Amino acid sequence: MADDKNISEGYCVELIDESEMVEFGHRLSRHLTFGMIVTLNGDLGAGKTTLSRGLLQALGHEGPVKSPTYTLVEPYDLPFGRVNHFDLYRVNDPQELEYIGFSDYLDSSALSLIEWPERGGEYLHTVDLALDIEHLKEGRKVVLSYQTVKGEIVVNHLRGASLYV
Ligand SMILES: Nc1ncnc2c1ncn2[C@@H]1O[C@H](COP(=O)(O)OP(=O)(O)O)[C@@H](O)[C@H]1O
Ligand SMILES: [Mg+2]
Repeated sequence: MADDKNISEGYCVELIDESEMVEFGHRLSRHLTFGMIVTLNGDLGAGKTTLSRGLLQALGHEGPVKSPTYTLVEPYDLPFGRVNHFDLYRVNDPQELEYIGFSDYLDSSALSLIEWPERGGEYLHTVDLALDIEHLKEGRKVVLSYQTVKGEIVVNHLRGASLYV
């Protein structure tokens, strides 16, 4: 997958049900670092929030995780740092992101998880890791690609770790 943002494809995994999706979130969390920008792409119901929940719970969040569709962002203060979980589905004009100080969120030392990143337009220029979730007949396929060295390191770790799955 070489698109106009020159994203290099990195790693692909098939997850047959919700629990595997959550488990993959746990696994991925071990390789992420705070400050990274991670996008989750996919249709409604693809599993973006499910995967985010797996990540957040592995990082110490207890309790449910909902897509912050109306508030756009939900911050989580977790033992090792802050995670900002975005859902940009309701953003009609990327300029709306000015009002919530989107750029400041991205520049912070927090880990950013962003659902519906395409609604962010130019406000979302550099992404460390992009997760593309597709429906399969049974379950989902997640394709990870990266734009930065930080993202590449995560993908390389997953590739190595995949021997043990
Ligand atoms: N790997 C998977 N295989 C099958 N069903 C899944 C998988 N991951 C998540 N689901 C289910 O698909 C739905 C996805 O919901 P959600 O995570 O809210 O999607 P999104 O945030 O992409 O709109 C949930 O009902 C969840 O149980
Ligand atoms: Mg969602």
